[in-house]
Amino acid sequence: MALLSVHDLSAHFGAFTAFEHITFDLEQGSLTGLIGSNGAGKSTLFSAITGYLTPTSGQVLFAGTEVGRYAIEQRVRLGLTRTFQVPREFSGLTVFQNLMAAAPNQDGENLRSLVFAQGKVRQQERDNAERARGILDFLKLDKLASERASSLSGGQKKLLELGRVLMLEPRCIMLDEPFAGVNPVLIQELSNRIKDLHARGIALFVIEHDLTSLSRLVPKLYAMDRGRMIAEGAPEHVLKDPKVREAYMGGVI
Ligand SMILES: Nc1ncnc2c1ncn2[C@@H]1O[C@H](COP(=O)(O)OP(=O)(O)OP(=O)(O)O)[C@@H](O)[C@H]1O
Ligand SMILES: [Mg+2]
Repeated sequence: MALLSVHDLSAHFGAFTAFEHITFDLEQGSLTGLIGSNGAGKSTLFSAITGYLTPTSGQVLFAGTEVGRYAIEQRVRLGLTRTFQVPREFSGLTVFQNLMAAAPNQDGENLRSLVFAQGKVRQQERDNAERARGILDFLKLDKLASERASSLSGGQKKLLELGRVLMLEPRCIMLDEPFAGVNPVLIQELSNRIKDLHARGIALFVIEHDLTSLSRLVPKLYAMDRGRMIAEGAPEHVLKDPKVREAYMGGVI
């Protein structure tokens, strides 16, 4: 059974079609890319799958559960997560605090738990802090733990964005342009971390315009154009597809 199954999904903004009739499966632990020209509907598709946008029609199944009516948090609890094209860190918090704020189990925010279950709250905080430190080490952000997120470079913010999602213990991460605005050394670093997560069994679906870096990373690509899925397969196959070449940058790739 596929981990994520999208069936005949469509989304509109008024009379405008963001995407339509999208059907595809993502297998457990798979590593897949999504390409397409600006405005093709890639980010909107991620939003519809992860609960940030209500699609007009169609189904989204995650781990066998129809999640179409689930709130974002319910999908996250099942392990379905995303990052954003423009990172959404809390700029006034430190890097470490950003990870702590992303943790899903925070009974300390609940007054009743604070009063009646202090021991449990403290244990949760310790667990979350340990998890955050492990993620900072993994992403090599440990030396920046006490820095304000606002002082990070664009590439470091992308790493932090990934770190915040890892706090959610995801089974599937949908990454929206992780390499955009990131220098080549950090792109390599991010690619390696994505490979590590893949090796741990996490499914990754990566939107990216950097076709060279993406093709090196993923064994399979999907291509969208004007709200439709137009190709799928091995990167070398998809990038040679005349429909993709025509749609993407007017045939110059
Ligand atoms: N909230 C919204 N209201 C109206 N139209 C929107 C909204 N969000 C996106 N769109 C439109 O939907 C289309 C698809 O946008 P989307 O952001 O999904 O494209 P994309 O493939 O991610 O492009 P890019 O590669 O530039 O990020 C675009 O024409 C965009 O203007
Ligand atoms: Mg986008």
